[in-house]
Amino acid sequence: MFTKKLSFIILLVFCFLGFQKLNKSTPYLFDDLFRFPKKISNDLNPVSKEGALLGRYLFYDSILSKDYSISCASCHKQKFAFADNKKFSIGINDTEMNRNTLPLFNLEWYSSFFWDGRSASIENQALIPVTAHNEMNLNWLEAEKRINSNSFYKEKFKQVFGDVTIDSILITKAIGQFERTLVSNNSKYDKVIKRERAFSNEELNGFVLVNDQSMADCLQCHITDAHALGTNAKFANNGLDNELNLKDLGLYETTQNLKNKGKFKIPSLRNIALTAPYMHDGRFKSLEEVIDFYSEGVQSSKHTDSKMQYAHKGGVRLTDKEKADILAFLHTLTDSVFISNKEFSNPFR
Ligand code: HEC
Ligand code: HEC
Repeated sequence: MFTKKLSFIILLVFCFLGFQKLNKSTPYLFDDLFRFPKKISNDLNPVSKEGALLGRYLFYDSILSKDYSISCASCHKQKFAFADNKKFSIGINDTEMNRNTLPLFNLEWYSSFFWDGRSASIENQALIPVTAHNEMNLNWLEAEKRINSNSFYKEKFKQVFGDVTIDSILITKAIGQFERTLVSNNSKYDKVIKRERAFSNEELNGFVLVNDQSMADCLQCHITDAHALGTNAKFANNGLDNELNLKDLGLYETTQNLKNKGKFKIPSLRNIALTAPYMHDGRFKSLEEVIDFYSEGVQSSKHTDSKMQYAHKGGVRLTDKEKADILAFLHTLTDSVFISNKEFSNPFR
């Protein structure tokens, strides 16, 4: 009786070890970030080293587009902080997108994705570009068939998720794991807040202006003082157009709530010097144009956010010197370590 019980326990232990072996992934260790807010919790897709690498292969692979011509990286380029340098990126069959490509970094701090917030998770977002007609235009059945019959990916998926059929859920989980590792926190600005470097006089003055509500007043939306994310991760209408000229209704298209007309995702100011052109429609070619807009081009309409306190005056009214100082500060947010990090580059090269 006793030996029977013992052999049963030993069998159980072996089964457990066997199962452990099937899934050979190692947890990905994230650094502690200085002065970042709390991340949105991620229980559904814990990141492993092998999972992030698999996702990186998929991110750079055109296998997920109908004619094998486009990958996620065709539009999201590392050297531009995973944004694009075009007003509108080009998808399959030379089709132009209708919004400016968003950069990809520090995504784990957002609870909604896209300029209009229409996607609620990183993994859910990744389902969309694969099938979108103007992006990769591949249906998921075909995508799953391609990956399941590819021995390179079969092996890698087995390593990360065990011996299971690969479906859209697992494919987007892998891509999501890679995207979750895209953390940017190595700019000059980061070194200054850690007291490892110092701002120049111009940069310091720009920092003060941006974070002073009676001056440039950017901090209510793009936070760089209370915490270091560069955005409050919310949506706002920053007064680009008056209500009659609104072509793209932004968050309203997702929620159908009139209050959300012309509201768009508030982008982080991190890496901002790398992601021109600017705004959801790429209307401004340079940061100088953006600063001119906030200074004297703001439209005051019933949809303009009340946090645009100076909208009634057309903007915050900056002098040339103040504009130059703000520009100097914005350049301190460029993270050249992030854009040259080999762990994020094309793994096929
Ligand atoms: C043809 C160009 C193109 C391709 C290919 C493409 N994207 Fe995008 N991506 C965009 C554009 C444009 C947006 C913004 C669209 C919008 O908000 O309506 C965007 C938005 C995103 C966002 C939202 C970011 C945020 O801050 O809300 C994520 C995440 C993303 N893409 C990931 C991916 C992944 C993963 C792939 C591959 C499976 C991919 N993209 C393929 C152009 C592209
Ligand atoms: C009421 C909130 C709000 C305030 C205040 C605000 N912004 Fe913005 N900012 C936004 C939103 C929303 C967008 C995106 C708008 C769009 O594309 O339609 C944006 C876009 C930008 C962009 C372009 C980002 C990109 O990736 O295209 C820059 C640069 C920028 N803001 C800088 C500033 C500066 C500098 C200030 C202060 C002078 C400021 N913002 C004040 C909400 C705000």
